[in-house]
Amino acid sequence: MSIENIKNRFPVFKNNSNLVFFDTAASALKVDSMIEAVNNCYSFEYANIHRGIYDLSAKLSKKYEDSRLKVSDFIKSPSEKNIIFTKSATEGINLVATCMKSNFLKKDDEVIISHLEHHANIIPWHLVQNHIGIKIIPVNINKEGEIDYDDLKDKINSKTKLIALTHMSNVTGSITDIEIINKLRKPFKIPLLIDGCQFIPHKPIDIKQYDPDFYVFSAHKLYGPSGLGILYMKDKWFEIFPPYQGGGSMIEDVNILNSTYASGFEKFEAGTPPIAEVIGLSSAIDFVLETNLKNIFSHEMTLHNYALEKLKSINHIKFLGESRNKGAIISFNIEGIHYNDLSLLLDKKNIAVRSGHHCAQPLMKYFKIDGTARMSFGVYNTKDDVDYFIKSLNEVMQILKNV
Ligand code: ALA
Repeated sequence: MSIENIKNRFPVFKNNSNLVFFDTAASALKVDSMIEAVNNCYSFEYANIHRGIYDLSAKLSKKYEDSRLKVSDFIKSPSEKNIIFTKSATEGINLVATCMKSNFLKKDDEVIISHLEHHANIIPWHLVQNHIGIKIIPVNINKEGEIDYDDLKDKINSKTKLIALTHMSNVTGSITDIEIINKLRKPFKIPLLIDGCQFIPHKPIDIKQYDPDFYVFSAHKLYGPSGLGILYMKDKWFEIFPPYQGGGSMIEDVNILNSTYASGFEKFEAGTPPIAEVIGLSSAIDFVLETNLKNIFSHEMTLHNYALEKLKSINHIKFLGESRNKGAIISFNIEGIHYNDLSLLLDKKNIAVRSGHHCAQPLMKYFKIDGTARMSFGVYNTKDDVDYFIKSLNEVMQILKNV
């Protein structure tokens, strides 16, 4: 499917035709076919799944499980049985951290994260640290805003029990080289968790090739619905981990004083799941596959490079992260102008950018700033969007410099 005119597929632009949306890293806008799939589900197909034996429930249960298969094929997982649906990527990481705390990590074990991480891949480990006394070992970042692989090498040792890293930074856009991580960790048999939230909407992935123990991402950044996260988990952890939550669906047998649990993904999917969201995700995956992730990435990077060149001509602009291996995210500050003022005045021109710490306060502290303005690109952005952004930015800067 051609990317030209793809804005037509996003109903928000019908209602707000001048909107220039550069905040896809926070959440992607929603594509028509996904909205229709969710609408159809609620309008015509809805019943609870995996419970009723009547036709409506059976049909939707099958559609739901077909979506699991689609997610599995999309990330090239060895099996759909390795896919767990959660309410968010954040919940996926909390699930792993909580279960590891119960039955894997012990006092003084070391968990390596990096200064690049989103809070979702930091705070769950703080909670484990507070409960059982693990040690969090942060890896340094180089000046381009990438993981410092030499520092990672130095920090790995026999006490390292997990490496948990972002696949692509939501601030610098830098992409982590999983091949290097694997070379470093595999001799020590250290499990790997990858936070794929920012990577998944832009580039194809192959779980078999990367071979992580855990890979998490969210549907809402992939043009899909909010309220749904995906956790890929390697077989062995299904045995090692106790249930994360108790309730309907995750059981084998229940007595009034005790219970036994299902063994597969069901063990980690207590309660009525996000049914319509999973159906919507399946449709969003169809959209990115039809559009082709390679084309999406190339389109976004063409615009990113074009915007970056234009931004570089602005006096006193400073970029956070200039990695050569990166996705289409540009974080910047302009000396003498507060990023929030910039963002608020751009909003007056119907341009959406995020400003602030981007849920990455440790990264801001690492670079001794407290926030940035951030432009992040999606499939619907155009060269006209960038031109309008640059023109508006210059106007806004004039206003703010005269304040
Ligand atoms: N993680 C999202 C962002 O970067 C919310 O904006």
